[in-house]
Amino acid sequence: MKLLSCNVRSFAWASLVFQTTVAADCECGYTAEVGTGESASTQLFTRAFETDFHRVTDLRTSEWRPQTYNKTAASSRGDYGRFYSNASTLASIEGPDPGLQLIVSSQIVNGLVRSGEVAAKRQDFFHGSYRASIKLSPEPGTCAAFYWYFNDTQEIDMEFLSKDFRPENNSYPVNIVLHSSLSLATGFDAVKAGTWTQAYLPFNPTDGFHEYRFDFLPNVVYFYADGKYLTKMDGAAVPTVGGQLLLTHWSNGKATWTGGPPKKDVVMSIEYVKTYFNSTSPDQQAAFTKRCPDVSKGSVCALPALEKDTFFNLTSINGGGSLGSGSGSGSGGGSSASGGYVLVMVL
Ligand SMILES: *[C@@H]1O[C@H](CO)[C@@H](O)[C@H](O)[C@H]1NC(C)=O
Ligand SMILES: *[C@@H]1O[C@H](CO)[C@@H](O)[C@H](O)[C@H]1NC(C)=O
Ligand SMILES: *[C@@H]1O[C@H](CO)[C@@H](O)[C@H](O)[C@H]1NC(C)=O
Ligand SMILES: *[C@@H]1O[C@H](CO)[C@@H](O)[C@H](O)[C@H]1NC(C)=O
Ligand SMILES: *[C@@H]1O[C@H](CO)[C@@H](O)[C@H](O)[C@H]1NC(C)=O
Ligand SMILES: *[C@@H]1O[C@H](CO)[C@@H](O)[C@H](O)[C@H]1NC(C)=O
Repeated sequence: MKLLSCNVRSFAWASLVFQTTVAADCECGYTAEVGTGESASTQLFTRAFETDFHRVTDLRTSEWRPQTYNKTAASSRGDYGRFYSNASTLASIEGPDPGLQLIVSSQIVNGLVRSGEVAAKRQDFFHGSYRASIKLSPEPGTCAAFYWYFNDTQEIDMEFLSKDFRPENNSYPVNIVLHSSLSLATGFDAVKAGTWTQAYLPFNPTDGFHEYRFDFLPNVVYFYADGKYLTKMDGAAVPTVGGQLLLTHWSNGKATWTGGPPKKDVVMSIEYVKTYFNSTSPDQQAAFTKRCPDVSKGSVCALPALEKDTFFNLTSINGGGSLGSGSGSGSGGGSSASGGYVLVMVL
């Protein structure tokens, strides 16, 4: 049985490699359908950066870095500070919700809540379509966020407060925040600054993995859940520089924000992050012009609105060997992890 499925996989893989090298290099980038209604448009992004956390067994060698820093209660703007450590940021291809695990602990250490956060090692994310498949915990008392960050006044957030989830009336809000010089002026109260809005998810975010997405464009950011448009933010608060991409799970005990801390240890699980973006790096821009001298003549890959098993340029496992070299051992051959062998869109 095992051998058979192995053979089938390598056969499928060989044919995929053949097809990709022939047709789907996406050397001229990726297009996404963004916005909605009259604001809808097709946008081109030059670069893909994708991580399938079902394959990551060791974060240290991946394209992601666990964050290890502390925040005081004052800077966390709550009753407690935060203690971000490696121990709260785990790669797990086992268990009920395999993937990256960001853990908020019920245990308080010296007035700090143990919290988990990761940042992509590269920091050249500019305009782009940013997507992450996440399962949230129903336990009240945490903030889970998928966010883009340059500094405290250039930030794009999708934040989920578990205490606000209401299964009884099917109410699952997501807080959409841009931090800008406007929120600096109001002591980072984005509500007062008018750069905060809430949207309701059309599903229960704790019932399984769902894809959260924001498209960062010049002067506007569009937000989505499971490929469906939620809302947008525009105006002067939209960032104007390149920055970092992060996922975080924390609590500060503040009754009007995270509440909590949670009564037990709770996990935010992340299956994958897929990003298609323009880089701020001059080297990356030059590399694009070189591999694609004329966009109209090269291969441009159209991004699906939602296609969980589709990766276009999943080049590394654990940041190490390339998929083409067959180092599938990274996924440990375990359960659902190996089920979704990489599918390359063939155009
Ligand atoms: C991304 O860069 C490409 C190549 O320079 C450009 O054609 C495209 O318009 C840029 N996309 C956005 C959204 O700015
Ligand atoms: C695919 O990934 C490799 C390795 O990170 C990178 O060198 C290459 O530029 C990427 N290609 C595209 C089209 O994003
Ligand atoms: C946390 O992990 C990183 C590698 O991901 C390592 O460089 C660092 O030393 C670790 N920090 C601690 C305190 O163990
Ligand atoms: C954060 O605080 C904890 C608890 O006091 C301490 O053990 C840890 O060393 C601190 N980490 C950093 C990076 O300061
Ligand atoms: C953030 O970066 C922008 C752009 O460089 C700059 O104008 C702004 O002053 C910075 N904000 C903070 C809080 O440093
Ligand atoms: C659900 O009920 C809560 C109060 O329990 C209320 O704050 C919220 O607005 C309601 N949501 C919807 C979508 O009606």
